[in-house]
Amino acid sequence: MEKLITKRLGIRNMTDADLVFIKSLREDEVCARYQRWEDNSEEHIRELIATHRHDVLLSDTEIQRFLISMHDGVPIGTLTLFVTPKEDCITIGITIASLHQRKGYAKEILTAVLDLAEKYYPTLDLIALIHPDNIPSIRLFEALGFRFQLHAESINSLVYVR
Ligand SMILES: CC(C)(COP(=O)(O)OP(=O)(O)OC[C@H]1O[C@@H](n2cnc3c(N)ncnc32)[C@H](O)[C@@H]1OP(=O)(O)O)[C@@H](O)C(=O)NCCC(=O)NCCS
Repeated sequence: MEKLITKRLGIRNMTDADLVFIKSLREDEVCARYQRWEDNSEEHIRELIATHRHDVLLSDTEIQRFLISMHDGVPIGTLTLFVTPKEDCITIGITIASLHQRKGYAKEILTAVLDLAEKYYPTLDLIALIHPDNIPSIRLFEALGFRFQLHAESINSLVYVR
């Protein structure tokens, strides 16, 4: 996959060894509050890893899932991209483990991911779908230059676009 490395972080593929981290992230109330994670069983997470272990960053695969990690590989969060040129957009989802929040990690890695996305897909909108009460996420995406577009009531999400 395209290597993406920032000052402190990198994006890498999931491996079987990441099961415990992904499960703990999905079971963390702070991380899960505004997500639609319905199945946190080991079986489901194993399947998720098997499906996405070879994902290529910003390829034309629709759903791409990666880990955000320190340079030594230790995971600190997850990144999901929905690449949908037919809908003229790439939708971005990010979760940083509670322990690592408010250290500028989400902003650091997304700045690099968004730059690359704009280079590969200059005509596509970059989108974040955010629960109206998710203030940290709203502030994060505003800081990254996203602007509020509309409230998608069917999914109770604010649509932010850059
Ligand atoms: C939203 C989230 C990814 C932010 O990650 P983070 O690494 O803590 O964010 P950063 O440290 O890079 O913060 C960047 C900016 O976002 C805003 N921000 C982040 N967390 C915030 C909080 N708890 N309250 C208010 N603003 C916040 C601030 O503007 C911050 O800049 P500042 O620290 O200079 O004030 C993280 O809180 C998270 O994983 N939440 C749970 C999962 C989630 O809801 N994901 C969003 C789905 S789209």
